[in-house]
Amino acid sequence: MADKGQIVQRVKGVKDILPVDSPVWQWVEDTARETFEGFSYSEIRIPVFERTDVFSRAIGETSDIVEKEMYTFTDRGGESLTLRPEGTASVVRAYVENKLYNPPGAKKLYYMGPMFRAERPQAGRYRQFHQLGAELFGPENPSADAETIHLLMSIFKNLHLEDLTLRINSLGCPQCRPAFRQKLAEYLDSRREALCDNCQRRIDKNPLRVLDCKAHGCGVIADEAPSVTESLCGECSAHFDRTRTLLAAVGVDGKVDPKLVRGLDYYSRTAFEVSSTALGAQDAVAGGGRYNSLVEQFGGPPTPAIGFAIGLERLISLLGNDGAPLGPELFFIALCPEAEEKVFQLAGALREEGYMVDMSYGGGLKSQLKQADRASAELAVIIGEEEMARSVALVKEMKSGEQFTVAFDELIKWLDKHLLGEE
Ligand code: HAM
Repeated sequence: MADKGQIVQRVKGVKDILPVDSPVWQWVEDTARETFEGFSYSEIRIPVFERTDVFSRAIGETSDIVEKEMYTFTDRGGESLTLRPEGTASVVRAYVENKLYNPPGAKKLYYMGPMFRAERPQAGRYRQFHQLGAELFGPENPSADAETIHLLMSIFKNLHLEDLTLRINSLGCPQCRPAFRQKLAEYLDSRREALCDNCQRRIDKNPLRVLDCKAHGCGVIADEAPSVTESLCGECSAHFDRTRTLLAAVGVDGKVDPKLVRGLDYYSRTAFEVSSTALGAQDAVAGGGRYNSLVEQFGGPPTPAIGFAIGLERLISLLGNDGAPLGPELFFIALCPEAEEKVFQLAGALREEGYMVDMSYGGGLKSQLKQADRASAELAVIIGEEEMARSVALVKEMKSGEQFTVAFDELIKWLDKHLLGEE
């Protein structure tokens, strides 16, 4: 604990979302909720921590997340628990545990909230960050893939974010991927010396990850590597083509990128990422894909699934913020004890009517007007001894300085007319 009086700082890699920023967060969340509802999704709220093996099992022992980025701790009962690094594994655990596969049919779930990864912090990369995610359980048909990607792009569109790149790929299935993996591992092994240390280790454990290594030497080798798209079996190839045809039907243009492999091991067939050149090194704003064996791996019935997650910090940095949060519509100022009671009564009634109301907690007229100004209030409602004697309030328009005298029992009606234009 810090010494008394010393400022305690937040942990590296986490952020406070301050009042000046929360309106844009709320707008993004509200817009996403509306979009999810338009696609018939329902919200699921999953715990912030799980037993460690929920994540190590799902995400893959050789993934960067499980190898070195999880916040894992032993609780008082000696159990190993982990702060969720992503939402998919938890949603699958909840889907199976709560038997959400009954009644049979497609199940569409969305979630939002904080995730935790012990990554090296840098611009756009945090240790606590927020995701907005969707998971669709049940259908194996390419129309589910296309609809999921369409949903993702619709969220961006509804947020007026148009300048983004969607890349898509197919990672094959248990029938065709092993042969591709073998072919790729052999190719990489023949160029082992030119790969970074990390990728040399990956050749045997997870050769696909070499394809999206950021190191220059690895990139050159990846460019000439065998292409997963050309190694797909007939069914995977048809699935991929159909997904793209359906996406084109809703006007979504995805660029095929055979080097897109994703950093989590649960994917099969369709994988996709959305990026923006405005983001710098950490340019992925969303990612997702199909994961057909995870539900079974968690003890559920064979259930194909597909989903995505959007990184909210990155998305919000693309939106910018004009830094001008909305102030209250009304700011009440009481200048004597009787007026304070009247203010409580009037403010209460107006809040019930749905007005945004704030009030001062004492002081002279000048200092209270200053508070109203700082709060960016639209109108100040001033009540002193004189107003009490006449049963009126003095309403001051903060921007123009114009003043109106309004009887207490006319106030709601007057505001409805003045602020909302209602007769
Ligand atoms: P992911 O690609 O690991 O996928 O994360 C999705 C998004 O979360 C990224 O594109 C990025 O915007 C954001 N993100 C990830 N790590 C950080 C970080 N350290 N700081 C800031 N933002 C970050 C998943 O998590 C999968 N669960 C997506 C999915 C859902 N696949 C199927 N269903």
